[in-house]
Amino acid sequence: MSTREDIIVSDDEMTRQEAFMHSVREMNPEADKKYTISTYGCQMNENDSEKLAGMLESMGYKHTDELEESDLILFNTCCVRENAELKVYGHLGSLKALKARRPDMIIAVCGCMMQQKDVVQHILKKYKHVDLIFGTHNMHRFPELLYQALNTDAAVADVSASEGYIAEGIPIKREHGVKAWLTIMYGCNNFCSYCIVPYVRGRERSRRISDIIDEAKLLGHQGYKEITLLGQNVNSYGLDLNDGTSFSKLLRGLEDAEGIERIRFMTSHPKDLSDDLIYAMRDCSKVCGHLHLPVQAGSNRILHEMNRKYTREHYFDLVNRIREQIPDISLTTDIIVGFPGESDEDFEQTLDLIRRVRYDYAYTFLYSKRTGTPAAKKSEQVSEEIKKARFDALLELQNSISREINSTLAGKQLEILVEGRSKNNISMMTGRTRTNKIVNFKGETGLTGRLATVKIEKTGTWSLDGSLV
Ligand code: 5AD
Ligand code: SF4
Repeated sequence: MSTREDIIVSDDEMTRQEAFMHSVREMNPEADKKYTISTYGCQMNENDSEKLAGMLESMGYKHTDELEESDLILFNTCCVRENAELKVYGHLGSLKALKARRPDMIIAVCGCMMQQKDVVQHILKKYKHVDLIFGTHNMHRFPELLYQALNTDAAVADVSASEGYIAEGIPIKREHGVKAWLTIMYGCNNFCSYCIVPYVRGRERSRRISDIIDEAKLLGHQGYKEITLLGQNVNSYGLDLNDGTSFSKLLRGLEDAEGIERIRFMTSHPKDLSDDLIYAMRDCSKVCGHLHLPVQAGSNRILHEMNRKYTREHYFDLVNRIREQIPDISLTTDIIVGFPGESDEDFEQTLDLIRRVRYDYAYTFLYSKRTGTPAAKKSEQVSEEIKKARFDALLELQNSISREINSTLAGKQLEILVEGRSKNNISMMTGRTRTNKIVNFKGETGLTGRLATVKIEKTGTWSLDGSLV
């Protein structure tokens, strides 16, 4: 069996980092320093931020939402689309005055954007008030890097070019008390032609199955009820371990994690979704009836240009096989509009695919040109105006489908996991069905973390209203 020692950070190195945590804590004897973390991008980044928060709390820092009273401001960045990058630059720029008033404050930037050399150079040159820069591949070294930043006036930048490690045992401060993110693998091997992720996150690296199951058991023991397994393409989990480990084996192995009532996962690449996984989803009682299956486009020509390695016919067949085994499954997807060269006919094919599949929900993105990816070199970029018009048309179609699907739930009794008070309306409690639909209902705060049955009374496009049964 593979021991995964090839890329797991050694115990000695983790002990070294603990020593740095201790040194930073000694510089903060009252344990009264405060930190803010701003997270951009996907759930994996959110999970990374929980680890960064965990390390900071171990170093005696306390969380605050107030930038003004922060001793450390950390941006965990995303570079999947240009928008997210521009926001980071905007926020960094606006901190210049605060840093001038509070020179002891540490401004740190980490995450995917920092895995790009030109971005790091740009920040070092244009944002001289930034104290610390590090990438995704060396996050476990944050204590050492922070210690250096606290003890020098120069900017500390460590964005080692290595392929990336797996660090086990980083302390973690989770955002939510009921449901937890659980990263099972890092990186991506797929090189979809529009996507920067494989360049900044490196090749696929799977955590040991035993480490994942132990973490799930610990979460169950700590009172978490739901876990979401995270990876850029969870369907290829385990392949790099070369010992027969697979994602379906992992799902089956997680069934007896005591206390965990629900298991979700994302993201699944259609080309790698096996019958074996469909059967595991069907058989495992804790695995929820929801699948996020990004299709990206509905035209075979564009799918080919995107290097997605499947056709619409293959995708339809996959959806049929999934629905045959799990009839009530809810399906969601990601779609990019305005990929270079996308014609009106190509876009019509995307609308047609949406009408046929009938997703419960679709995340729609305007194509964003990412330097270094093959699609960025294509000459026929689609105008912003056309992209926007296609985006609006797609949204309108999807909203009507979401509304129709949700309306069929009126009068039904559904199991929800109660997550707490609704953020939008604090007089209501909120929870999610196994199919990941939001249900708002009147109830006591004490129900948080419990499974409850609700009768659906009102249905909308994005959420449902119900009452406790
Ligand atoms: N432009 C727009 N959307 C993108 N995505 C990835 N790269 C880009 C890009 N360059 C979308 C894909 C992916 C989701 C996480 O982000 O739809 O599934
Ligand atoms: Fe990007 Fe494609 Fe990998 Fe998803 S599967 S992270 S879209 S390269």
